[in-house]
Amino acid sequence: MTTRRKKLSIITLGCQMNSHDSEWISGALANEYDYTTDRSQADLLVVNTCAVREKAEEKFFSLLGRLRPLKAAKKGMVALVAGCVAQELADKIMKREPFVDIIIGTRAIGRTPLILQRFHETGQPQVDISDDSAFDDYPMRRESEISAWVSIMRGCDNHCSYCIVPTTRGPEQSRPTESILDEIRGLANKGYKEITLLGQNVNSYGAGLAPAIDFPGLLNKIEEIGVVERLRFVTSHPKDLSGRLIEAMANIKSLCPSIHLPIQSGSDRILKLMNRGYTSASYFEKLDKLKDRVKDIAVTSDVIVAFPGETDDDFEQTYNAIERAQFANIYLFKYSRRQGTKAAELMGAIDRQVVSERFNRVMDVQKEITRAEHLRWLGATLEILVDGPSKRDIKRYSGRTGQNLVVNFSSDKDYTGQIIHVKITKSRQFSLEGVLLQL
Ligand code: SAH
Ligand code: SF4
Ligand code: F3S
Repeated sequence: MTTRRKKLSIITLGCQMNSHDSEWISGALANEYDYTTDRSQADLLVVNTCAVREKAEEKFFSLLGRLRPLKAAKKGMVALVAGCVAQELADKIMKREPFVDIIIGTRAIGRTPLILQRFHETGQPQVDISDDSAFDDYPMRRESEISAWVSIMRGCDNHCSYCIVPTTRGPEQSRPTESILDEIRGLANKGYKEITLLGQNVNSYGAGLAPAIDFPGLLNKIEEIGVVERLRFVTSHPKDLSGRLIEAMANIKSLCPSIHLPIQSGSDRILKLMNRGYTSASYFEKLDKLKDRVKDIAVTSDVIVAFPGETDDDFEQTYNAIERAQFANIYLFKYSRRQGTKAAELMGAIDRQVVSERFNRVMDVQKEITRAEHLRWLGATLEILVDGPSKRDIKRYSGRTGQNLVVNFSSDKDYTGQIIHVKITKSRQFSLEGVLLQL
């Protein structure tokens, strides 16, 4: 007798950690569940949540309201909430939306099958926000067959004063080196071309591990296996970016010339209040070195405007820093007060209109910088990894350069998953246009 395989659907909000955790949830349940994008057909509907800003949290609660009728319409549908809001506000979720059956915290993902079984056996709501200390190998059902995320650490010990992540993700923990290398070997065997190492602060990789290792050491070990064509990592905390890492980036061939290095503010006074552990001068010293040592590196960044007490002068320093840094692109955020963080206790909330003015000014100047950054590739011959065909036109494809810039091009042949050469013919705000070269 064959039993019907059940269907799983996951809605993922938030950052790459969450996207990767969703692959883990799906992988952990792969024995029993097939994946479907049709939420209304799901036997198990998972929402993987983000708490980093108030808006993200609100988005989740309003989504939850819309999922209630979906669950009511499908007999036996189980609703599971995972991720950072689950970890932070399990009680609130259960009280507000009793239709939620299961809550799983950020460190309990490995136990998902067990918790689900317990729910089916007891029929009682289940909450598990405890810390599953195992952080080693786990099954993944990956979204892409070309690019893979590999988690190298979890949690965060930095306690930037505005940030909820250390609370929702717990203390920093590095994954054993051999376990990372094994996963990468396995991925290369399956034909993956690009690996992105994941952590909230990859530059502090290795703390507490024996034998001792640091992040550049890990990069060197990955390079030694010689199976990865493209290697990337996110995110780098500027305070821990070492000269050794810059040299690794200059020397390791598979490492892409791209780095995400959040500056957050250009004002030393604000950086101190944010507990970031660097000054504007020390940030630029590292940035200049990176640009000097790593040819054509694309640097992206995160910026927060309107931190409590940010004066016009503080803001001007941020604005000037953005102009000076010439980032390839930035993620720009309005400060959002997060209950329980140090910054939530600070006075000096900024007037809403001023917040918008500051946000728009930075947005406008960065738009120009990004445009100029794109323009400089006109006429260049670049290597791109082809991600696949466009949804609308079967002869149109899209790929990414080492700098992570998107290049669209036309081709009769499908080069998905291959690294090819294109000549850049046009530059747009968010992408480049290229023609295929036969080299
Ligand atoms: N660990 C990473 C990413 C953390 S969250 C890092 O340190 O770079 C991604 C970004 O969200 C942060 O870099 C920061 O710019 C922004 N962010 C975090 N908390 C915020 C808050 N309370 N308000 C506004 N932006 C915030
Ligand atoms: Fe948050 Fe700072 Fe940790 Fe990034 S490094 S997750 S901003 S506390
Ligand atoms: Fe990521 Fe959001 Fe959690 S940014 S770490 S999913 S709070």
